[in-house]
Amino acid sequence: MFDFQPAPGIPKTDLYADLLSAAEGLTAGDADAVANMANVAALLWDYLPDLNWAGFYRVVAGGLVLGPFAGRPACTRIAMGQGVCGTAAATGRTQLIPDVDAFPGHIACDSASRSELVVPVLRDGAVRAVIDLDSPSVARFDAEDAAGIEALARQLAERILPNAQDD
Ligand code: SME
Repeated sequence: MFDFQPAPGIPKTDLYADLLSAAEGLTAGDADAVANMANVAALLWDYLPDLNWAGFYRVVAGGLVLGPFAGRPACTRIAMGQGVCGTAAATGRTQLIPDVDAFPGHIACDSASRSELVVPVLRDGAVRAVIDLDSPSVARFDAEDAAGIEALARQLAERILPNAQDD
């Protein structure tokens, strides 16, 4: 049994250090990208308070396709450049959106979402997936959350992206 829970009241920098070490432990033993994405999505859901969605979209044939996640059912495909996820994928830049209603083209997969953080996962300089976190609270995410999830994306890229020979 796994029981990964942050200590109550833990500072955000320590929270992300703990999250990275739990993610490392969960994914170290197996190279299967789907299994590792699924466990990381569950871990994000357990660790980070005040979320209504946490998971992955993968770059497949030039668009985004839903990957493992925790939360309500979501849009299966998102075009490159569309919405917050498509913008992160097209630009290769983290999107920290305090109020999704103020983001032109935001895609409301879940009408409860009020703020969003999307971080690209890169391999060989190309975006291959994004990590998407949604919250029912306005301005739930800050620069520390962005830095923490970016560190997670860098650390786990080789384990959560499909192996080249599986493409
Ligand atoms: N809101 C996202 C779509 C994905 S769902 O939130 C899970 C967007 O605008 O890209």
